Amino acid sequence: MRISDMPVAARLKDLGVEVRPGVSLAEKTSLGIGGTTDQLLLYRYDTIPEAMRLLATEQIPHHFLGGGTNLLIADGELPYVVLHLPPVHPGVRIEGTIAHVHASADLGGTVTFCAKNDLGGMEGLIGVPGSVGGALRMNAGAYGTQIGSYVREVELYRAASGEIETLRGNDIRFDYRHTSFAPDDVVLRVKLELPSKPYNDILAGIRVCNEKRRASQPLNQKSAGCIFKNPPGGSAGRMIDELRLKGHRAGGAMVSDRHANFFINVERASCSDMLRLIDDVRERVHGAYGIVLENEVIVWRN
Ligand code: EPU
Repeated sequence: MRISDMPVAARLKDLGVEVRPGVSLAEKTSLGIGGTTDQLLLYRYDTIPEAMRLLATEQIPHHFLGGGTNLLIADGELPYVVLHLPPVHPGVRIEGTIAHVHASADLGGTVTFCAKNDLGGMEGLIGVPGSVGGALRMNAGAYGTQIGSYVREVELYRAASGEIETLRGNDIRFDYRHTSFAPDDVVLRVKLELPSKPYNDILAGIRVCNEKRRASQPLNQKSAGCIFKNPPGGSAGRMIDELRLKGHRAGGAMVSDRHANFFINVERASCSDMLRLIDDVRERVHGAYGIVLENEVIVWRN
């Protein structure tokens, strides 16, 4: 969707919003799949409610793009614009055992920054790609750690009220790859309370997790991490592997031969290649195990 030539673009600019025309979202996602649209960079958090009201009045559909690491976007010209919080460096400030973090901060960079300040707990999250805001939305986790355990406060734009609000950690539900945030809430800042730990101990934990991840996951290929959530008590990756589907393809999309719950864009895969592969694997798992796997990856269709 193109709004850069419309009068609304000038009004957005007055609110500190930069409109970048015709951005390829394939370059903004770890899967390397996605069409083209205008990208709106929200430099000022205080004007977000007004910018959102303007988009609503002008009936401009929009989606919020975080780190793009758990996302499958349709191809072609997209019928919506994408909103984005520009990265802030380092995006983290430490005060005692509290880390004040911008949602756009890189998750791995945040884990490292906290470690250098002798704050641990998040070692397992070191190799999880994406932004802190995105990790929070889905309660990202790995190797026994979930980010939600450390959240003390979240500042967010709530579409329901049209205002910026602050929630206490206790008022948010963090479940396995799921939170009580509304789909159109936008996380802006978070306060994490972390256990004090010597840097070298944290580093040792980080190394162990990195090794495990390198040994089992296809880190240098275009993927969105795990495609499906694990069913209660089970492992999607193991079931797909048991069905001998590693290497199974739909067009340019392929089940990883390293970890069967990672689907790879091996050769200019389209969104529909990836969706076909997801549906095909889901049906096969259902046929063999009677379990309907739920997507972990978020899909933006046209
Ligand atoms: N397995 C296989 N074949 C495979 C993959 C896995 O047999 O191709 C087996 C493993 O041998 C193991 C079991 O399945 O016995 C579980 O595998 P793994 O330890 O790799 O964990 P997972 O359940 O597949 C989860 C998260 C990962 C996270 C790891 C490590 C989900 C959907 N995935 O994977 O998170 O990194 O644990 O804690 O919960 C993600 O969410 O995108 C993600 C990568």
